[in-house]
Amino acid sequence: MHAIVQLHVNGDRYETGVPMHYTLLETLRYALGLTGSKQGCDKGDCGACTVLLDGEPVLACLTPVLEAVGREITTVEGLAGAGEPHPLQAAFADCGAAQCGFCTPGVLMSAYGLLLRNPAPDRQQIRDALAGNLCRCTGYTKIYEAVERAAEMLRARTEAAGPIAATATDAPVPATAANGNAPAAPINNR
Ligand code: FES
Ligand code: FES
Repeated sequence: MHAIVQLHVNGDRYETGVPMHYTLLETLRYALGLTGSKQGCDKGDCGACTVLLDGEPVLACLTPVLEAVGREITTVEGLAGAGEPHPLQAAFADCGAAQCGFCTPGVLMSAYGLLLRNPAPDRQQIRDALAGNLCRCTGYTKIYEAVERAAEMLRARTEAAGPIAATATDAPVPATAANGNAPAAPINNR
């Protein structure tokens, strides 16, 4: 049995038909063409599928799509600003925190969720926030260093821009949802 669902992803609205048993991850990847969220273990062990629901990290492989209806979904595609990477993405590149990169979207989203609620996390808080994200390439030290560097960059940006402008600057910028291969295009302008 299928259901028609309306989803709000990275600032865009989508309407698509999916099997009712679909998870949020399956819907993002196979109905919307948003393949940044990775299907690693598909059973809640690896964190590669992490997205934000109303600003909180969740495992999309364990989240029924029907639970995401009416909520704000943020995926790794929504992280970068127009023409520039998010400071987390820049810091991961600068620190060598990604090798194969398969875990990276999930790590980025867990880290992003952390920085939204705590702009100045200490090393232990970063470790705790990323405890559900497994990486088989880098070890974790460079990942922790990258999150610390991104936090510094975001705090510097906040101080430079002032509280009102900084809030707007740090907000996730809506992705170009079609991404060239999305079967279901956003319906914002309909
Ligand atoms: S794919 Fe979701 S936790 Fe591994
Ligand atoms: S960079 Fe390869 S699994 Fe993390």
